[in-house]
Amino acid sequence: MNLDMGHGMESMSWDEAVATSIVNEHKHLAGATLPILHALQENFGYIDRAAIPLIAEALNVSKAEVLGTITFYHDFRSEPAGRRVIKLCRAEACQAVGCEALVDHAAREHHLAIDSTSADGAVTFETIYCLGNCALGPAALVDGELVARLTPEKLSALCDGRSVQEIVKGALS
Ligand code: FES
Repeated sequence: MNLDMGHGMESMSWDEAVATSIVNEHKHLAGATLPILHALQENFGYIDRAAIPLIAEALNVSKAEVLGTITFYHDFRSEPAGRRVIKLCRAEACQAVGCEALVDHAAREHHLAIDSTSADGAVTFETIYCLGNCALGPAALVDGELVARLTPEKLSALCDGRSVQEIVKGALS
């Protein structure tokens, strides 16, 4: 299952001309702000601050309004993501089976706090709320792939760049 929400692995770097053409392509749609933001994030992996005035001007809205939309929707990024994106479920059922211990493990062993990207750009670590996989928690979405029964060992392997498929197939327990 792939539930990709804009991790940055195959994105191009920020380019004002490309961004302008994306904005122009979508600006005639009803409620154009969201389609534009989605298209920009899909293309670049994040929404550069330089996009804000472009969108504001094209849609004749204030920059504050555009920024408000970006910050309201948690799936929009304001910075490039790491090469691997780990979204750990911290909703109730996963709380009950120890997801917070995984947050501690990531901080202790990998110096990785929630909502941050490691200094070498390898991993972005974020929270997500319920992946519909509550019976097999702790659950996470790793580069868009669902990983069940996450353990500290699996999390470390994922932080170290091991393939998600390898982890999913049970190379580690
Ligand atoms: S609470 Fe974590 S998957 Fe539902």
